[in-house]
Amino acid sequence: MTQTVSNRVLYSWILGKLRPFSFHLTGILLLGLLSAPLALLTPLPLKIAVDSVIGSRPVPEFLQALLPAAAMESTSLLLGIAIVLVMIIASLGQLQGFGICVLSSYTGERLIMSFRAQVFRHMQRLSLSYHDTHSAAESIYRIQHDAACVKHIPIDGFIPFLRAGFTLFGMIYITALIDWQMAMVALGVSPILFILTRTSGRKLRKKWSEVKYMETSTTGIVQEVFTALRVVKAFGREDYEQARFTREASHFMRGHIRLAFIGASFDFFVSMTIALGTAVALLIGVSHVRSGILTLGELLMVMAYLAQLYGPLETISKKVAEMQASLTSAERVMTLLKQGPDVPERPHARPLARAKGHVVFRNVAFAYDPERTVLHNSSFEIEPGTRVGIVGTTGAGKTTLLNLLTRFYDPTSGQILLDGVDLRDYKVADLRNQFAVVLQDPVLFSTSIAENISYGRPGCRFEEIVAAAKAANAHDFIVHLRDGYDTQVGERGVRLSGGERQRLSLARAFLKRAPMLILDEPTSSVDTKTEASIVDTMETLMRGRTTFIIAHRLSTLKNCDVQLVIEQGRLLALEPIMTRAMA
Ligand SMILES: Nc1ncnc2c1ncn2[C@@H]1O[C@H](COP(=O)(O)OP(=O)(O)OP(=O)(O)O)[C@@H](O)[C@H]1O
Ligand SMILES: [Mg+2]
Repeated sequence: MTQTVSNRVLYSWILGKLRPFSFHLTGILLLGLLSAPLALLTPLPLKIAVDSVIGSRPVPEFLQALLPAAAMESTSLLLGIAIVLVMIIASLGQLQGFGICVLSSYTGERLIMSFRAQVFRHMQRLSLSYHDTHSAAESIYRIQHDAACVKHIPIDGFIPFLRAGFTLFGMIYITALIDWQMAMVALGVSPILFILTRTSGRKLRKKWSEVKYMETSTTGIVQEVFTALRVVKAFGREDYEQARFTREASHFMRGHIRLAFIGASFDFFVSMTIALGTAVALLIGVSHVRSGILTLGELLMVMAYLAQLYGPLETISKKVAEMQASLTSAERVMTLLKQGPDVPERPHARPLARAKGHVVFRNVAFAYDPERTVLHNSSFEIEPGTRVGIVGTTGAGKTTLLNLLTRFYDPTSGQILLDGVDLRDYKVADLRNQFAVVLQDPVLFSTSIAENISYGRPGCRFEEIVAAAKAANAHDFIVHLRDGYDTQVGERGVRLSGGERQRLSLARAFLKRAPMLILDEPTSSVDTKTEASIVDTMETLMRGRTTFIIAHRLSTLKNCDVQLVIEQGRLLALEPIMTRAMA
């Protein structure tokens, strides 16, 4: 939660991310730099009006060179020039603002888009162990909010910062030409501003990282409650969840108030420091006018410069403070992106077109967390095309065993071989492609039934979808739905019954036609009659495919060749199944 990454590392990482857009960003910067000459020109008409129209001093030398000699003679002509200058300077300023605005949004939004996509891609690739320990809300927050830092840091931070620095330099230079003492006073406040910025910057950064963490946990509660709303209602826990939410939200609120307080006090001190500088400069300026070192017009011009000079100084200080939120975000995303997958692909991983299905577990052990080993030293060998029934009491480690086979996790020790090659030597995508999986907890996407079935083989023909649905005994219930195969199933498939969901996920596995089948209690939610007909259809499907099927009912296992018995993470037996042997 606290600052762990040095600023240097963070900045160079951010710069790396910005490189593809360096052309656009340079454009914004150059356009922005125009504000320095524009700011320098702004008080000029006032000086002409006061000193040369009202007073009788000559216009500044560079203007004399630009204007016709006649203009110098007539005060009304000079006034006209001053007025036109006001308009020209204002319109140039607006044009520049317009250009910056358009170019910044264009670049900024594209930056965010591509960065979000990158973070999303990375998050999807991160292993299940990462997601087991980080909430979905946290992942959402990083993609939705934190990723936007890639726009804020350059466009609302770096660039205005550089622009302000440039303007500041120009103003100090010009002010020093007119009256160096006033320029010194103006500069004198800079160290104070610098110290202020550093101290409050640190505080803000620390606080921001806490607040972001709190915000994630509030969203986490909302998400959890709405995904499990049925449980919440069934147990009447609305008030409890409300209290939990309010508690987290109030931490979050206090955090934000504290941030506002730090920010506002910082603003206050910055403004007061600046006011002090202006007051001293005014004092010196007036005495200089009195003693004739400065003209009144020059004093007005220098005061206008000072007002503008403090503008950039204020920008620089405040930007540094505002940037803390974005830097915190950047730090969070950077840590995430640096997190390698726990299931890495080796540099020269082998491709795998279609596996034969020979599986060997060699002294495999596994632990989700180091304290508790879930699977102990397991060894077995499965010939291609064998149907393996896995049995064992709940929590024995059956699902875990199959999680290792699909490489959702890598074994803590030992080796798993597919067709004689360690799983870790295959390309991950190729390996996963070998399996059609029905998970214990059937998960559907909030789209149509047809799309859910064809999830593993997008773009397949409609007849194939229907055939798969028939095989999984789902066709009959689907055609009775109002929209048939176009029926929307709702988030995670909530609009369907448990058995219907299970049959759709079976159909999805059937359609994939992978050489290996993994079925984790595929018929646990259907009645015995439906189960019997699914088991019969599976018979054709399992032919020639290595199949692992977890089931508690013997009826589901009747077509299996061998039975793996697991108890408390230990492999007890690998034996032929009697029912089939007898059949
Ligand atoms: N993601 C996880 N993180 C930590 N521990 C886990 C995780 N998944 C499972 N476990 C633990 O591993 C053990 C084995 O779980 P597994 O899911 O393999 O059991 P199972 O045999 O499939 O049980 P069931 O028949 O109930 O599905 C359990 O004690 C469980 O608590
Ligand atoms: Mg299980």
